[in-house]
Amino acid sequence: MNSLKSLQFQVKKNNFTENRIQEVPLESLIPKENEILVKIDLFSFTSNNITYAVSGDIIRYWEFFTPVGIETEGWGVIPVWGFADVIESKNENIPVGDRIFGYFPPASHHIMNPGNTSKRSFEDQSEHRSTLPNTYNIYRRVLSEQNYNTKLDRDRSLFYPLYITSFCLWDSLKENNWFSSKQIILLSASSKTSVGLAYGLHRDIEAPDVIGVTSERNIEAVKKLGLYKEVYSYEQLDKINQIETVIVDMSGNNSVLIYLHNRLADLMKFTLKVGLTHWKESNNNQGIIKERSKFFFAPSHIQKRIEDWGGKDFDKKTTQFLSDAILKTKNWLHYKNLNGLEDLTNEYPKVCSGTLPANEGLIVKI
Ligand SMILES: NC(=O)c1ccc[n+]([C@@H]2O[C@H](COP(=O)([O-])OP(=O)(O)OC[C@H]3O[C@@H](n4cnc5c(N)ncnc54)[C@H](OP(=O)(O)O)[C@@H]3O)[C@@H](O)[C@H]2O)c1
Repeated sequence: MNSLKSLQFQVKKNNFTENRIQEVPLESLIPKENEILVKIDLFSFTSNNITYAVSGDIIRYWEFFTPVGIETEGWGVIPVWGFADVIESKNENIPVGDRIFGYFPPASHHIMNPGNTSKRSFEDQSEHRSTLPNTYNIYRRVLSEQNYNTKLDRDRSLFYPLYITSFCLWDSLKENNWFSSKQIILLSASSKTSVGLAYGLHRDIEAPDVIGVTSERNIEAVKKLGLYKEVYSYEQLDKINQIETVIVDMSGNNSVLIYLHNRLADLMKFTLKVGLTHWKESNNNQGIIKERSKFFFAPSHIQKRIEDWGGKDFDKKTTQFLSDAILKTKNWLHYKNLNGLEDLTNEYPKVCSGTLPANEGLIVKI
């Protein structure tokens, strides 16, 4: 390996605001039979990654990537979405120079074990990943894509994991005939996952009205999007119409949910619990209408739709949705480029506390 130094960003599993950068021993970066070594190029970092840490034990996110370095007990690696280049290969199907998109550790290098390889993709078949949700194990070989353009790498890293979820949520709500609701409330309306869903609902003439709920400081930015019929702050929940409602909750803020369930009572037709942006407020769930609430896990919906439609059709539909949604919402957002893992440690506390401006997208270039 030519590189002199290899680094990995780690967080304390039981107190993930604490973080450190560790040097990766070079001997752990020598590919064995069938393996490849990749150099990570860039990745995005949003509240979604913080949620991987919050639910690291329950959804097994800690198990994807192993912390390395000194005294690793209690430390974990938060997965990120981005691009990497193959710099060494002991795999006959994946040449050096291949560029891939998918799920990586926030690190400079990573060893992978490709299998089930096609022109378009492969799976990382490392033993420790075999029982983890398979969607995360699939990597795209982007050089085989007809319209691949490296100028769009930042868009794909940032939006893909979030807007594919937005697509799945829109698709699921539609499939369920909007749960017979007349309005859909999105909590944490400034999050990118909400913005993508608001886009999907806004352009669907059959969809009910979309109401956004966000923090006071984000109201103007969210209104500017022009995708929500009404936008309220968490302090204005009493202004929300008492009509048949579906709630899509990216916030995990249970006091907000309890208030709305209480206020809407039988008019609360269904709640999809999607995220935990307000992870500090997610403990007490007394008063939530549990029989009409369920956790929505995008990888399960993706799996189901690939079975229903086939992989090619799924790709076609989602690619179209993503490119339309990105085009429509991109001007709202501006990128903040971070230079390496050191820069990430500076911005990381802001992502944890939700103090980054809502319309800022972090991209870490290694
Ligand atoms: N279930 C699934 O399969 C799935 C898939 C993808 C994403 N998600 C989840 O969707 C959520 C949104 O992810 P994202 O990456 O789209 O978010 P994002 O764009 O980074 O969202 C930023 C916004 O989240 C809120 N926020 C973040 N941290 C906060 C904090 N500590 N305190 C208060 N507010 C905070 C603020 O919005 P407001 O002021 O508007 O509240 C902030 O503007 C995440 O929890 C993610 O895990 C779930």
